[in-house]
Amino acid sequence: MSKEVNIDWGNLGFSYIKTDFRYISMWKDGKWDDGKLVEDNMISISEASTCLHYGQECFEGLKAYRTKEGKIQLFRVDKNAERMNTSAEKLLMPEVPKEKFIDACMQVVKANEHYVPPYGTGATLYLRPFLIGVGDNIGVKPAPEYLFGVFCIPVGPYFKGGMAPCNFNVADYDRAAPRGTGGYKVGGNYASSLNSHKMAADAGFADCIYLDPATNTKIDEVGAANFFGITKNDEFVTPVSPSILPSITKYSLMQIAKDYLKMPVYEREVFIDKLDEFKEAGACGTAAVITPIGGIEYKGKFHVFYDEKEVGPVTKELYRILCGIQVGDVEAPEGWIFEVK
Ligand SMILES: Cc1ncc(COP(=O)(O)O)c(C=O)c1O
Repeated sequence: MSKEVNIDWGNLGFSYIKTDFRYISMWKDGKWDDGKLVEDNMISISEASTCLHYGQECFEGLKAYRTKEGKIQLFRVDKNAERMNTSAEKLLMPEVPKEKFIDACMQVVKANEHYVPPYGTGATLYLRPFLIGVGDNIGVKPAPEYLFGVFCIPVGPYFKGGMAPCNFNVADYDRAAPRGTGGYKVGGNYASSLNSHKMAADAGFADCIYLDPATNTKIDEVGAANFFGITKNDEFVTPVSPSILPSITKYSLMQIAKDYLKMPVYEREVFIDKLDEFKEAGACGTAAVITPIGGIEYKGKFHVFYDEKEVGPVTKELYRILCGIQVGDVEAPEGWIFEVK
């Protein structure tokens, strides 16, 4: 380890901290340059960049974890590379080759190694890869140039209170349109979620649930996380809809539920007025990890799942296995772990 940093690992939130190095690469004249690590966290771009006016940008989020032996590992970074390219294709941006994406993440973690929180603190190093349309342009059309960057920040758990149940309300507005961009990790979805998030927070909820934009009858997302429920028959159920962001954590939990807990797993519609079928529920994502859902307020009624204070046993077990895999305490399925050397 190169250098000591003065951080209270136990009390980290989810806030920007300027770490030492970030990666930047430019796409010009139809190709990517080699990319490099830089110290400056300011980006200088044309005032006419498409990312500023037309939301031509996408991003990713993943974490680096410290193992008991002090090694550093990334969780399923190849899946983030694939998902970013799905978003890029949707917004007519150039592909970032998977090897380039993974190498950029590795370089950033390695260069900021001293910011990877120690094993056992619950804190991690969050990585934010992003791809933005830049260059001189004014018409509504794809940018002439692109910037791919990755920076990192040490973070604590996303929802304050850690593995304690959180309550949610149902948003009055949709985060994405039917047949829109809900299934892609693009900035516009998040801009349109800010108001609903504020309304939920102002009303005392951790965040809001978004219903499917076409019928407003089914659960799509839980803030910036996916929903899962455990039915009274011990099945793992998670919603299916074209406007849900395909969560890498969700697909990992589906595999964990099936292979480690031997549970039947279903991706299917989850109706907001049929929450009684679940004995436990949770929100899952890189930032949220697994956040147990205490209850959901919908049309003036408050539905409690397992308990408002206690975490259900299946949720606890899913959390133990997922986090165990991420920090190297539980054996991972083939190909899930990428060691940073
Ligand atoms: C809208 C939304 N849904 C779900 C997720 C969870 O996805 P993942 O598990 O890949 O982090 C995220 C991102 O973290 C998100 O922004």
